[in-house]
Amino acid sequence: MSTLHTHPLDDPQADPFAIAEAAAADIARITGVARHDIALTLGSGWARAADLLGETVATIDATDVTGFSKPALEGHVGSLRSILLPNGTRALVIGARTHYYEGHGVRRVVHSVRTAAATGARIMILTNGAGGIRETWTPGTPVLISDHINLTADSPLEGATFIDLTDLYSTRLRDIARGVDPTLDEGVYTQFRGPHYETPAEVQMAKAIGGHIVGMSTALEAIAARQSGMEVLGMSLITNLAAGIQKTPLSHAEVLEAGRDAEPVISALLAKIVAAL
Ligand code: HPA
Repeated sequence: MSTLHTHPLDDPQADPFAIAEAAAADIARITGVARHDIALTLGSGWARAADLLGETVATIDATDVTGFSKPALEGHVGSLRSILLPNGTRALVIGARTHYYEGHGVRRVVHSVRTAAATGARIMILTNGAGGIRETWTPGTPVLISDHINLTADSPLEGATFIDLTDLYSTRLRDIARGVDPTLDEGVYTQFRGPHYETPAEVQMAKAIGGHIVGMSTALEAIAARQSGMEVLGMSLITNLAAGIQKTPLSHAEVLEAGRDAEPVISALLAKIVAAL
C-alpha cells in the first residue's frame, strides 16, 4: 500500500473488501468474538438500543480498527460494541458512521457495512435521524424504510457491478418489525448529499418523486450491504418535519433534542425487534 495515502481506503489501488477483512480481523482480535450474526448502525436517537440488546462483551474504539475514521459529529459515538443476545445471537453495534457529506468518498462511508459483513453478519440494521415529509409524522416517530431514492449521484459499487435492489429493505424483516409494533408506518427514504438541510423546493421535489423521508446517510450503506449479501432493515427516527413542511427553520440542536427525547422509546422498540429476528 502506498505511504502517500494517510488512510488505507484513500489508496485507489487498495481493495476495499480486503481492508474490510482486515477490520473484521481487528474486531475479532480486540473483542475476542470470532464472528457476529447481525450488525446495527445506530444513528441519532437510536444509541441507547445497544444497552438493551443483551450483554456487552466488549466496547472498542473504532479508530483502533483498520479503515475507520474519527466521527465528525457530536452525538455520534465512535465506538464498536460486541453484544451477546439472550438467544445466543452475536450483535455488532456500530456507533461510528462516516457520512457522505464529510467528503472522504463512498468507500469510507460504507466501510463499516463491509466490515460488518466480513465479521459474518447476515443482517444489517441501519438506523438514522431524518426529516419527515408526511405531516402526520410528528417528531419522535419511528418509521420503517420501505425503499430509497439515492440523490447523491454516487454508488459504493465500483466498475460494471450490477446489483439488484428490488426488496433492498427486506419485506421479511419489515414484517417482523411490524409484528413487534403493528402501528409502525413505512416510507421511502430519500438521500441527499447534505450537510445543508434541503430547501423547501427540494423537499417538494422529493415528495413529487415518491419520497417520504429525507436524510443524509442510509441509502449508500444499504446498497453496500446488499452487495455484501446481507439482508437490510432500515429505520428512521423522524426528528423534524422536512424544510417547508414544518414552518419553523430547522436546526441541528432541534434534531439532536428530538433524538434524545425519543431515544428511550425507540431504543426499546428496536431491541424488541432485534430479539424477534
Ligand atoms: N433532512 C436531512 N437530514 C436530516 C433531517 C432533514 O430534515 N433531519 C435530520 N436529518
